[in-house]
Amino acid sequence: MSKLITNGMLISASETFQADILIEGERIVAIGHDLHAPDAERIDATGKLLLPGGVDPHTHFDLPMFGTVSSDDHYTGHKAAAFGGTTTVIDFINQDFDSLKECVDAWHAKADDKAAIDFSFHMNIVRFNDDVAKQIPGLLDEGITTLKVFTAYNGVLRIDDGGIFNVLRTAAENGMLTLLHAENGDVIEKLVGDALAAGHTSTEWHALTRPSWGAGDAILRVAGMAQAADASLYIVHMNTAIGADMLKYSRERGVKVMGETCPQYLFFTVDNMRQPDGAKWICSPPMRSKADNERLWQSITNGEMQVMGTDHCPFFYDGTTPIIYEGKEIAIPGKELGVGDFTKTPNGLPAVGDRLPVMWTEGVVKGRMSANQFVAMNSTNPAKIFGMYPRKGALLPGSDADIVIWDPERKVKYGVAHSHHRTDYNLFEGWELTGYPEKVFLRGELIVDGDEWLGKRGGGEFFKRKEGEVL
Ligand code: URP
Ligand code: ZN
Ligand code: ZN
Repeated sequence: MSKLITNGMLISASETFQADILIEGERIVAIGHDLHAPDAERIDATGKLLLPGGVDPHTHFDLPMFGTVSSDDHYTGHKAAAFGGTTTVIDFINQDFDSLKECVDAWHAKADDKAAIDFSFHMNIVRFNDDVAKQIPGLLDEGITTLKVFTAYNGVLRIDDGGIFNVLRTAAENGMLTLLHAENGDVIEKLVGDALAAGHTSTEWHALTRPSWGAGDAILRVAGMAQAADASLYIVHMNTAIGADMLKYSRERGVKVMGETCPQYLFFTVDNMRQPDGAKWICSPPMRSKADNERLWQSITNGEMQVMGTDHCPFFYDGTTPIIYEGKEIAIPGKELGVGDFTKTPNGLPAVGDRLPVMWTEGVVKGRMSANQFVAMNSTNPAKIFGMYPRKGALLPGSDADIVIWDPERKVKYGVAHSHHRTDYNLFEGWELTGYPEKVFLRGELIVDGDEWLGKRGGGEFFKRKEGEVL
């Protein structure tokens, strides 16, 4: 049956106008005034905004690490995303096997039956040799067009600069995009050793052993390699002023480099990590200073930063005490693993459901970004960069009917009760938000209706991506 959403205010990345949206099956078929569709189910959106579903290009569901696993799987994380207005996510595949196809299949085995929104994958490259290089073009057949490399996590995820340069070259030859985790792994390794030897084991030392300049030097170094390889580059989870400066510097000199930041890096600082519950904020790269928060905001306001992601990688704060999730008790070992030694705290935090509600209030309502910029950063730009546009990230005839009816007046005292993440805390607990998703459609199906969950396991589809755009 067709659906007609009437009288909403449509917000795209560049325009705002009153419109009806006609949906046939999974797609939008018409947008305009007073659309005539007598047989369609009518949904009145008077006084509401119509946004394309959020695209979060950075999640880690069901990710084994630190002797435990991130506490949202590909169902619970998708459900939380949907409640927050996000209808597409891109998760990172571990390079656990010599065969990249086997790695991809392993991630499908975790995700396909659980997926409740649409999804895709990036491939982590944590070992690189001629055999891996030969296999990389095969990822295109799997709909995977992006590779992530690390300049940190020595001995675990990091590959050397020669390897990173070769990944960039291989990516460029195949129309792929390289994603960079930018920190200085050698400096971190030494400083962590020194801190432990000196008995500095408390939470804040996670940040103090990972200096901000490491992000700056890694971004500049790898941007230089991208320039030499004529490759495009995307810096994930940017957390520092110096990183923002290096992004600007590189872009001004014609390097095809783009940046992603995440809500946590705009609001929190190392001081949060000094609180008794500071482990809630442990993630990599870590929280920084107020000056870093402000520089990142500036990079958003002036258009230097292209994407808002989340790096959603949640753990329980107290994984010994169960929560009730969908009527059942569940507890998963989490941040308590690091009590007395910050190096044993699982790195990561919940955010996938928070992104749109928090950024609307803090960005749009507080006048730091326009509603169009909000749509661009949270939906359209990631869809374009990651080869999903215009099926995703847009409300256009032919686009997937991934639509958020957004209530700009709804006030919510936000927190763990609203966010639907499968964990026991939320970083934005008690924040007063104005503006919230009212209804969320995934390819024409209503999956969130107010506080009611109508989505289902297996309702999400894998999106085979193509080459993206450089913005
Ligand atoms: O602490 C984090 N962010 N864990 C996820 C891994 C990563 O580097 O994105
Ligand atoms: Zn990373
Ligand atoms: Zn990540």
